[in-house]
Amino acid sequence: DAKARQPPKGIVHVLATDWIQKELDLITLPDITGEIDISIFGSVDYTLTGIRIVKWDLPEPSVQFYPDATGFKASISGLNAVLSGGWMMDYGIISQSGSFDLAASMVDVTSVVELGKDAGGRLSVSSGSCNAKIGDVDIALYGGASEILQFFVDNFKGDIITTIENRICPGVQTLIGNLESHLQAMNVSFDVDQILTLDLPLSDLPVIKASSLNLGLKGEFFGIRTHKDPPFEAKPFTVPEQPGYMLSVGLSEFTLNSALYGCYSDGLLQAIINDSMVPPFSPVHLNTSSMGIFIPQLPKMFPGLLMTLQVYAKKEPLFSLQPDAVKLGVQGAVKAFAIQPNSTLTPLFTLNVNSNFSSKVWISDGRLKGSVTMDNFTLTLAASEVGTFQVHGNKHYSAFYVSRLLLAKGVILPRMKQAQLVNSVLKGFIAMSSDATVFLTDRDFD
Ligand SMILES: *[C@@H]1O[C@H](CO)[C@@H](O)[C@H](O)[C@H]1NC(C)=O
Ligand SMILES: *[C@@H]1O[C@H](CO)[C@@H](O)[C@H](O)[C@H]1NC(C)=O
Ligand SMILES: *[C@@H]1O[C@H](CO)[C@@H](O)[C@H](O)[C@H]1NC(C)=O
Ligand SMILES: *[C@@H]1O[C@H](CO)[C@@H](O)[C@H](O)[C@H]1NC(C)=O
Ligand SMILES: *[C@@H]1O[C@H](CO)[C@@H](O)[C@H](O)[C@H]1NC(C)=O
Ligand SMILES: *[C@@H]1O[C@H](CO)[C@@H](O)[C@H](O)[C@H]1NC(C)=O
Repeated sequence: DAKARQPPKGIVHVLATDWIQKELDLITLPDITGEIDISIFGSVDYTLTGIRIVKWDLPEPSVQFYPDATGFKASISGLNAVLSGGWMMDYGIISQSGSFDLAASMVDVTSVVELGKDAGGRLSVSSGSCNAKIGDVDIALYGGASEILQFFVDNFKGDIITTIENRICPGVQTLIGNLESHLQAMNVSFDVDQILTLDLPLSDLPVIKASSLNLGLKGEFFGIRTHKDPPFEAKPFTVPEQPGYMLSVGLSEFTLNSALYGCYSDGLLQAIINDSMVPPFSPVHLNTSSMGIFIPQLPKMFPGLLMTLQVYAKKEPLFSLQPDAVKLGVQGAVKAFAIQPNSTLTPLFTLNVNSNFSSKVWISDGRLKGSVTMDNFTLTLAASEVGTFQVHGNKHYSAFYVSRLLLAKGVILPRMKQAQLVNSVLKGFIAMSSDATVFLTDRDFD
């Protein structure tokens, strides 16, 4: 869920100017034709052709959220542009031609861009109402009988203003249409890494209020290999209004849990631990002699063998977001094997490991950081090929490995510069608020 407050005016200006310039470079303006009535002398047919935009300046547009049309209303006032091209004139059998410069001043354009959602969950834009008004044009003609024609400029200036005014809104519609085709080409599914893909389609139509734009996004991770839906549902939530910030983003329990489920269903929440991973200074090693402290019969049954542990999640681990804390419950198991000299693995025993972690999260340097503490850790003997024994010691070891296994993946967050965790963890979701900054480097932006 993402909520933006105040349309980012400066950003729109920079992007719009850049983009409109690109579009204008490609545009060839259609000819303007008309007729000048010179009373008893009849009429003169004229054509302005090969019209190019030589220069234009785009004043800072005013952009507002526009609830009436579920979109934005952008207005530009006081735009000035200089056009040039050639003119031709026919009066009976007399033809004349030359070139012209045209300065259009005080051009006002107001255009409404409506936001929607297409069938694939992409944001869509369409043009709503549009108005264009030209304050004045000034035409200078050169060549041929331009002096004579110049004399009549006031007679046909009005027609030219109307013709250009009538072409601005279709031009704006073309620009919005081009933007729409860019949006249609965008993906709503992204591969995060080799393991997870993130589906981020809109779940609802955008909601526009006078001071905010609200987008509901699905935010579901999938394991790339199996692409299975998790057995739990997303619960609705609403990011609270956060006055003083431009942007707020909420990330729900469901999104976090779908990432864990994706890893789990693709069989990735498992690991092999062998003695080479135990630090040399450790008093306990993964071998049958060393384990004699906990399982006295083991060194007698299998003397002097190295051991290996298979650690795996028995169920998908689940995050639960509670005010000011992230809780994580893990139900796992550890299967222990002795490694025979011929490399055969002989099963020894299986332990169930249930543990609960709490963490605090915060954002610093634009990264999500956290601290984890273990709330509860229970080890129970699930099966044994070596007879019963007391399950107690090496708690901290197993816990260390389980937590390392699960937290190593980390939590992927949208990249946000200058993000601050405001209200941090709330019931069922994490909220972040931020001011957006646009960094333009050539044609790329963050
Ligand atoms: C969309 O995704 C496909 C497949 O993952 C990729 O080939 C394509 O380049 C992506 N398009 C964009 C615009 O990112
Ligand atoms: C321990 O595990 C690592 C990685 O799985 C493997 O490369 C190594 O050969 C293993 N060592 C033993 C002694 O089994
Ligand atoms: C098993 O571990 C002990 C230390 O705990 C060590 O002295 C012994 O050499 C190890 N045995 C094997 C086979 O690695
Ligand atoms: C511990 O996690 C399990 C899920 O593995 C959960 O059912 C249980 O309620 C959690 N217990 C506590 C005290 O949070
Ligand atoms: C490997 O050694 C074990 C124990 O000595 C024995 O039971 C097993 O049959 C052997 N396996 C193979 C494939 O030789
Ligand atoms: C830890 O879990 C066990 C069994 O699941 C439970 O009996 C015990 O009360 C829990 N302890 C804490 C501190 O949550």
